[in-house]
Amino acid sequence: MPLLGLGTWKSGPGEVQDAVAEALQIGYRHIDCAPVYGNEHEVGIALTDALEAGVVARNELWVTSKLWNDSHAPDDVRPAIEKTLADLRLGYIDLYLIHWPVAQRKGVGFPEHADDMVDLDELPIAETWPAMEELVDDGIVRHIGVSNFSAKKLDALRATAHRKPEMNQVELHPYLQQQELLDYCSAHHIGLTAYSPLGSPDRPAGLKASDGPPVLDDPVIGAIAQRLGVAPAQVLIRWAIQRGTAVIPKSVNPERLAQNFAAAEIELTEEDMSQIAALDQHRRYITGTFWALEGSSYSVATLWDE
Ligand code: A2P
Repeated sequence: MPLLGLGTWKSGPGEVQDAVAEALQIGYRHIDCAPVYGNEHEVGIALTDALEAGVVARNELWVTSKLWNDSHAPDDVRPAIEKTLADLRLGYIDLYLIHWPVAQRKGVGFPEHADDMVDLDELPIAETWPAMEELVDDGIVRHIGVSNFSAKKLDALRATAHRKPEMNQVELHPYLQQQELLDYCSAHHIGLTAYSPLGSPDRPAGLKASDGPPVLDDPVIGAIAQRLGVAPAQVLIRWAIQRGTAVIPKSVNPERLAQNFAAAEIELTEEDMSQIAALDQHRRYITGTFWALEGSSYSVATLWDE
């Protein structure tokens, strides 16, 4: 999997098609998608255009998508991936992830009440996973994994899985480094992908309750960027790559798309890496409080196992 990919969460209708087209022109070969982002149909138009124009060949391209929380029932997995494939206009995708270790009633886009949720006791991940494995057997998905999983949840999944999860996509940036999770994943040959690597400054207002200073404005990151003559975002992206994770910064701006892609070429010194290591605050921007609905079995503590 190309370590540097394009994130498409928050890339709105009317802008994501151009962003993906531009990214493919620049040289991005990894696009991260999900049906809940509400834009896979437009991403699909950009992918088809680029494939038909010969900008990129399908086998050079890595496309990830994710199973939404309302489709964890084994019989719902196949229709969910078929909808994604139809929207993306692809015959297969490279990686399919269980988006959250959280189950919702069928048809619930985003939950508002405890009734919208389904207990994991009632619909465990261990029941969803065999349906994910079948997609690989059938060739419509090349690799399977998860997102927002703790080491504890990965351990439980690995215990029953026939095909082991190959990827865990989680929030990672210098304020949330999750070194123990990275060590766990490395030990078990599970890749880790960093989402919100720039601290997701455009996240919805409802997710800003726990706002702290933006990691993009961190003075240590700023000083390293200034010394290297690069942008702070480039330091954050290169830091992710240099510590061995994949990274999917989102942008819909042509200059920033190019800037982010060029970050792969920067080199951070050991001193830079240790200065950044010292910035960890275990601060999540995406806190998961939206699943902890009163009266449901979900809490932030059980979500992250912390
Ligand atoms: P835009 O899409 O207008 O470029 P994350 O990947 O952590 O979710 O962060 C995405 C946010 O960061 C978006 O608001 C995006 O804005 C912005 N962004 C993307 N690239 C850069 C960059 N190189 N410098 C500053 N902000 C950036």
